[in-house]
Amino acid sequence: MGANSYYVTTPIYYVNAEPHLGHAYSTMAADVLARHMRQRGADVFFLTGTDEHGEPIETAAEREGVTPQELADRNAAKFEELMPIIDVTNDFFIRTSDPRHKERVAEIMQRVYDNGWVRRGIWEGWYCPRCADFKTERELGPGNTCPIHEIELVKQREENWFFRLSAFQAQLEGLYEERPDFVVPEFRRNEAVAFIKGGLEDVSLSRPSLKWGLPLPWDPEQRMYVWFDALLNYVTALGFAREGEDLTGRYWPADLHVMAKDILKFHAVIWPALLWAADLEVPKRMAIHGFLLMGEKKMSKSLGNVLDPFEAIDRFGADALRFYCFREVSFGQDGSISTAGFEGRYETELANDYGNLASRVLAMVDRYRDGVVPVAQVDATLAEDFEGAAGRVRELLDRAELTQALEVVWTLVRRLNRFVEETRPWELARDEADPERLDEVLYNLVEGLRVTTLLLVPYLPRTSETLLAALAEEGRALAELGSREGGQKVERVPPLFPKIES
Ligand code: MSP
Repeated sequence: MGANSYYVTTPIYYVNAEPHLGHAYSTMAADVLARHMRQRGADVFFLTGTDEHGEPIETAAEREGVTPQELADRNAAKFEELMPIIDVTNDFFIRTSDPRHKERVAEIMQRVYDNGWVRRGIWEGWYCPRCADFKTERELGPGNTCPIHEIELVKQREENWFFRLSAFQAQLEGLYEERPDFVVPEFRRNEAVAFIKGGLEDVSLSRPSLKWGLPLPWDPEQRMYVWFDALLNYVTALGFAREGEDLTGRYWPADLHVMAKDILKFHAVIWPALLWAADLEVPKRMAIHGFLLMGEKKMSKSLGNVLDPFEAIDRFGADALRFYCFREVSFGQDGSISTAGFEGRYETELANDYGNLASRVLAMVDRYRDGVVPVAQVDATLAEDFEGAAGRVRELLDRAELTQALEVVWTLVRRLNRFVEETRPWELARDEADPERLDEVLYNLVEGLRVTTLLLVPYLPRTSETLLAALAEEGRALAELGSREGGQKVERVPPLFPKIES
């Protein structure tokens, strides 16, 4: 791992359906962190992609009368197209049907086998074809249903290979003791710990009935359970993302896996054990977020209540979507979103609090000082309120507290609006009674806007570019109030968040 490296991943998404806002949400969250770390000068690698094997894809393809590969190609393309639309800056897009991934999975799984972490056995239990997951008795919903998909589950019995997860019980408990922030937020960590302490059972590693999956290297009659193939993407991608270069040494172990709570168990319990079994290092941290809900329910294609990210972006723009998601729903918790809520925040916070502030400040510098930012002193009261803000954002984002970090920045936006009201620069300008104070006020407003906008780069990548260009700011590193002395020529900006047609 390189000294300054930062490797962040999203889950790889199933290609049984098209992307919806839930998928965009995790990906945008990882993007906020990737952009923020780039601003801090880190050597970032950001991975996302698609999970293309397994029963959910096999059955969806059958239903549509196409081959699983055709379905995978069609939907993977939609996921890949979504990335630039939501302004996501992933460095690579992995598809698990890529032969280069498959080769590496076979190699790693053979190592797991050679190391003695695999055994034969009979599996009998509850299986949800939509989750592609076996449920233990304590995970079942009422009437033997899947608690996520609310469908009745069938008991299955088959001859399988097993991964000897139970052998890693003590090592997993040790991991969570040594690294209290391995999983954030803490209540999700506690869930993982409780699951481990409840006693680990070996997990099924293969399915004889599955057709659309990777053959086990030591027993090609059996197909690999999709989760092993999927989890390994985080490692395999580094081997072939750059032609002729192996990035594993530079970026592994990963700094952060981002995902929702539905796949916590796979990542927080099985994944570290699988890595140990393959003589690989475990990642540094995982950030678990909640579900975006529409009404009361999780948004999901199979429940048919999805907000189409493409449509939302058409109306409000990608910046507004990113902002709304992280502002409205406290990152880590479940939360409801709605079109009305979206419109409300767009108007009051983006257009009024921030957009108007930017337009007004730049217009005043243009009008009163010919667009040249005065060289003046930092205002003491403003400085007090800005003190340490960048540091707090850094600390919060290190723990993937995206909503709290945004709140810190929004406190600055509101503070700047109050500063305008308190100092009333248009009155100072009327008779130029105190030109020095007007210089000071304008300088501080530009500084405040610059510092705040730099902090908003990860959340509002497009708007911040427009504004930073207007502010003649070349670098993107985080800055403190007063770190630029003034004297630069700035430009007016058109409304950053124009009125939307309803
Ligand atoms: N393919 C597996 C993941 C393998 S990772 C090695 C999978 N795919 S999925 O398509 O079902 O995506 C699940 C992930 O999508 C969730 O963990 C979450 O990151 C995101 N979300 C899907 N629906 C969501 C919401 N309604 N709300 C928030 N996130 C959502 O599981």
